[in-house]
Amino acid sequence: MARVPVKWGILGTSMISATMAKAIRESSISELYAVGSRSLKTAMDFAHTHNIPRHYSCHQDVLDDPEVDVVYIGLPNHLHKEWIVRCAASGKHILCEKPFVTRIDDARTALAAVQTHGVFCMEALMYRCHPLINKLKEVVSSHVLGKITLFNAVYMADIVDLANPVEGGAILNLGCYPVSLIRLLAGSAQGKSMAEPLEITSLGRVSTTRNDNQGSLLMKFENDMLAMVTAADDISMCARFEIIGTKGSLRLISNPWLPDRTENSFIIHHYQNGETVKINVTAERSLYTYQIDAVSRHVLDGADQCMSMSRQDTLGNMMVLDTWRQQIARGTQPADNQIMERIA
Ligand SMILES: NC(=O)c1ccc[n+]([C@@H]2O[C@H](COP(=O)([O-])OP(=O)(O)OC[C@H]3O[C@@H](n4cnc5c(N)ncnc54)[C@H](OP(=O)(O)O)[C@@H]3O)[C@@H](O)[C@H]2O)c1
Repeated sequence: MARVPVKWGILGTSMISATMAKAIRESSISELYAVGSRSLKTAMDFAHTHNIPRHYSCHQDVLDDPEVDVVYIGLPNHLHKEWIVRCAASGKHILCEKPFVTRIDDARTALAAVQTHGVFCMEALMYRCHPLINKLKEVVSSHVLGKITLFNAVYMADIVDLANPVEGGAILNLGCYPVSLIRLLAGSAQGKSMAEPLEITSLGRVSTTRNDNQGSLLMKFENDMLAMVTAADDISMCARFEIIGTKGSLRLISNPWLPDRTENSFIIHHYQNGETVKINVTAERSLYTYQIDAVSRHVLDGADQCMSMSRQDTLGNMMVLDTWRQQIARGTQPADNQIMERIA
């Protein structure tokens, strides 16, 4: 059983690992204890910069260190499955970068390993732990917008030359954010923790590297709730999110997937009286520290998952992303009954 402070090990030394290192140091119940890199020099430099007591010239050594309680997997997408399975086998709790893995079958394999070894595991969709998300859930479940008829989301960023090209693409790297938020809020609208689409159809643009650069997705949920999502990884930053209900609409002014401490606002427009209300949500800590705190707290409590991003939620998300990618790769859509079978 872990004790305060929970000791963290980091795999990978890129910019996102540096962000996580800072967040771990900001968490009062966590300690940044070890880092692993493929190169001793890189590990040493990273450890020096972030004041980390242990550094290793191989990722596995972090898993072999008995002092490490939780491992943050900050490796490229195509390596997530392997390292989730390895972490679980080593008895380490896990925070794995998004996308959790790159295929639904790999998600099942990884989660089965986590289950078998009884470790905590969470996908690092960090925005889920920010107070803005609780506020959005509260608004949707209060029915102030009436019956939800449409979610409309766009997430674009020019990251194609920055992101690892192996198993990359707009859908996995960016589409995971709006898809996960819509599934969450479609659930809130129905008094559930999440909802899965009954039908999915999509179109997209695939590059010569076979990664998708742009994809648009239509989802149909229970009660005729529709959702439209567009993600692109070679177009300038654009983050839009709106919810259309029968009594009112809600539109994010700030980026819902990168909330900060102060500027997290949305506007609710009430159709009947024409009233417009602006709501701003502030946060006490940085976005990534909320996530680290959530993981450490659950590990201390002996929990195997965090309901801000549960395992079932990760599986549902992966199912949509996988279907979206497959439809775009084929240039066709599977028959409805095939989708229903895959979601079941
Ligand atoms: N949550 C967020 O805000 C956010 C932002 C950006 C990225 N991400 C996610 O973070 C993950 C890493 O993304 P990234 O762009 O940082 O990837 P990356 O730079 O390609 O790789 C991350 C680290 O993994 C190690 N690595 C790279 N290639 C490897 C290989 N072939 N075999 C073993 N280790 C390898 C490297 O560390 P060493 O050389 O030290 O071993 C590298 O620094 C992705 O899953 C991405 O989706 C999340």
